[in-house]
Amino acid sequence: MSMRGARRPGGPTTRLAIRADLLDFTADPGWSAADDAPGLRYRADHWLLVEDGRVAGVQPGAPDASWQRQDHMGRLLMPGFVDTHVHMPQLEVIASYGAELLEWLNTYTFPAERRYADATVCEAGAQRFLDALLAHGTTSAVVFPTVHPGSADALFAAAQQRGMRVIAGQCLMDRHAPADLTVAVERAEADSEALIARWHGRDRLAYAVTVRFAPTSTDAQLAMAGRLLARHDGLYMQTHVAENRAELAWVAELFPNARSYLDVYARHGLLGTRSVLAHGIWLDATDRDALARSRSQIAHSPSSNLFLGSGLMPWRAHEDAGVPVSLATDVGGGTSLAMLRTLADAYKVQALQHVRLPAWKALYTATRGAAHALGLDSEIGSFDTGCTADLALWDWAHGSVAIARDDAARTLHERVFAWMTLADERNLQATWVAGQPLYRTPETTT
Ligand code: GUN
Ligand code: ZN
Repeated sequence: MSMRGARRPGGPTTRLAIRADLLDFTADPGWSAADDAPGLRYRADHWLLVEDGRVAGVQPGAPDASWQRQDHMGRLLMPGFVDTHVHMPQLEVIASYGAELLEWLNTYTFPAERRYADATVCEAGAQRFLDALLAHGTTSAVVFPTVHPGSADALFAAAQQRGMRVIAGQCLMDRHAPADLTVAVERAEADSEALIARWHGRDRLAYAVTVRFAPTSTDAQLAMAGRLLARHDGLYMQTHVAENRAELAWVAELFPNARSYLDVYARHGLLGTRSVLAHGIWLDATDRDALARSRSQIAHSPSSNLFLGSGLMPWRAHEDAGVPVSLATDVGGGTSLAMLRTLADAYKVQALQHVRLPAWKALYTATRGAAHALGLDSEIGSFDTGCTADLALWDWAHGSVAIARDDAARTLHERVFAWMTLADERNLQATWVAGQPLYRTPETTT
């Protein structure tokens, strides 16, 4: 099946040009809030050229009439956001009251995930989830479905239909969860092998060996996850680590021989350049060193960390130790699919630790930085020529307060920081995946 947006052999070239203020990054801007921060690439009022679903160039003036032109002068165009940790079946339990992690899982999350035993729930859930990502300006994601292979099938199929870059895999649990959400090791290995054969490397899809978290896996299951990773090239690994203190104490009880929570995964060969570990709040220097050496990334999920009362992720300590950091909504622990709200929360989580998070660092991390950490920076996350044209078009301001704040901004960073802090999905005008328009803001009628 051909990828959406790509040219069919022998078919005509498709040419789209979009006029807007273009913001992307060529490299990590560090912690500078200056308008000339390294790696920042801001081109006010330029045209982005998209040919056969890929970025073909950027220019100040309008291209010729062989291009289909869309004039969005005065709006902001960015690469689509990359959400590196989000749960498809948890839209139904977003904003659930009054529990920390372990109680939240048992009370809300596991019951919601049981519904995905039903193929129609999987199908509808996957469609709704991906359309919701697009309606929040997110075009790529690393996703947890449920233990049911049908939930991963439905997610991959829906992503393939939309031409989206999605990384996912059957969620592995074989203890400490309701019986109908656990799968024995042999069965899960066979399910995973079948899903890898069906989806890994197809179009823009990749398989992630998906260990829910250490408490819901036996050593035998963790060993099986390690075998899958060793057996297949290019697989990702996703899990949770060191999110909540009660969870940490439980892991220490369950795995008395492990040096730390992270070490449970390290011992089974689950760390590596394609490993994505959500949270990473309660780690020590030895853990950080293990993450840095293996180039495993922490998917920082500030909205979830605040909502579930989990703790404050020490971004600077991770970065100083060489640990790659990406950003994630972690819905339904997080309370919004909007990466912009997540970035605003990330700023506040750092502020509570007396660290200032510049807009540049936040936006880089949510685009090119995530792409780089996932080994996908030649495909997504920037306007580099040849990248797939996954794009989000934003209003600079929505509503009278934001409009007044935008008008008052004196520097580019001040303007972009106010946008990042005040904007959400209501600012989104349109989303393209591989040059195809897949979301348009609904027309408001008065
Ligand atoms: N740890 C294990 N499962 C989950 C989950 O679904 N959400 C979060 N936030 N943490 C987890
Ligand atoms: Zn999670």
